[in-house]
Parts: sequence; C-alpha cells; structure tokens
Amino acid sequence: MLYSPPCAGFPVDKGKLAGVEFAFLDPLQARQELLQCVQLCRQRMGPTRLSKVIKTLQLHRYRLLLVAREQETVVGFKLGFAERPKIFHSWLGAVAEAWEGRGVARRLMELQHQHLFEQGFTRVRTGTRNRFRRMLILNLKCGFDLVGIKQRSNGEAHLQLEKRLTRNLEPAPESPSP
Ligand SMILES: CC(C)(COP(=O)(O)OP(=O)(O)OC[C@H]1O[C@@H](n2cnc3c(N)ncnc32)[C@H](O)[C@@H]1OP(=O)(O)O)[C@@H](O)C(=O)NCCC(=O)NCCS
Repeated sequence: MLYSPPCAGFPVDKGKLAGVEFAFLDPLQARQELLQCVQLCRQRMGPTRLSKVIKTLQLHRYRLLLVAREQETVVGFKLGFAERPKIFHSWLGAVAEAWEGRGVARRLMELQHQHLFEQGFTRVRTGTRNRFRRMLILNLKCGFDLVGIKQRSNGEAHLQLEKRLTRNLEPAPESPSP
C-alpha cells in the first residue's frame, strides 16, 4: 500500500496558476530541482547547506519533493520524508518572492496531502517558527493543529503542527465562538 514511486509531472491549474506545472519527484534522483529548492530556501529563509539537506534525505527511505515549476524554473516546493510508517514529516518549503500571494503554497499543500493520503499516510507533521507567520496561518487554515513547541538552542520557539489525513482533506469547520 505504501511507497509507490513518485509520479511524473502533471500540469494542473488554470487562472492565477496558468503555466505552472506541479511534479512529484524523488529529491535524490532530481538533483537539479533539489539545488533550485535549496537556493529558494537561502533566498527566503536564510543559510541552507545542500550537503546537509542531502545527508538528511539519505537517512530516509521514503522522501518526497513536490515542485511547482514555470518552464524549467522552480517557483515553489515542499520537501519531506516518512518520519515513521504512515507519518510524513513535511520538512522544508518556500515560494519565490515574485510568485507570492497567487496560491502556489496552498496548491502545493493540497496536492501533497492528497498524494500522501493516496500513498497510505495517516498523518503529516511539520514545524515552523513564529516569524514565518504566513506559513503558520496557511498550515492552520489547511487543517493542522498546534501540538507542541520546541525551544531551539538559539532560544527561538519552533512550533510543532500535525494534521490527520482523511479522504475529505478539507479542514473541519471551526466551531462557532460561544
Ligand atoms: C509562506 C509561503 C510559502 C506562502 O506562499 P504563497 O504561495 O504566497 O502562499 P499562498 O498564495 O498559497 O497563500 C497562502 C496563504 O497566505 C496568506 N497570504 C497570501 N497572500 C498574502 C498577502 N499578500 N498578505 C498576507 N497574507 C497572505 C493567506 O492566508 C493565504 O491563504 P488563502 O489561500 O486562504 O488566501 C511564502 O510566503 C514563503 O515562501 N515564505 C518564506 C519562506 C517560509 O516561510 N517558508 C516556510 C518555513 S516553515
């Protein structure tokens, strides 16, 4: 049930995302794309070492890179791996500044969750820092719950989030306030 190989690229979306192609890849087999993702990380989040990323990915049998590409250029991505059977850790992700606010990150997340569910995963976990507020808000909107806070060695809080994957991937409606 689990772990069929990543599927090839498939174009989706019209409207705001016309011309953007989304593709699931094994990041260790797609070094050109992985390099572009690391460059995006550097631009959007700060220093990121390709060698460290590769080393982490090599520790995991199942890893999944989802890229949004315009022509050959990666404009957004989500990268993660199976943390343990049926639990996926969505580790890194970013969207190019020029593409922000057009729904790339939301679409990446929807496709990633759909794919993980189809692969037999039951939960997806992620972590983010307070300062990445848009990512935090998007995670909450897409059905993640805050499940913990880890203190980093530099004193920065790292928020831990988790989402149960179900057939209906829409987040449960919020209960009305009292
Ligand atoms: C966070 C990030 C991935 C969002 O990418 P994006 O493609 O712009 O996001 P989307 O357009 O899909 O919008 C997602 C949500 O962001 C918010 N958002 C979008 N445009 C916004 C804007 N101009 N101002 C404020 N919030 C905005 C909305 O909540 C939106 O939700 P909606 O779909 O219900 O409208 C991107 O800003 C980024 O790469 N930031 C830097 C790196 C980062 O934070 N990485 C995550 C580290 S854990």
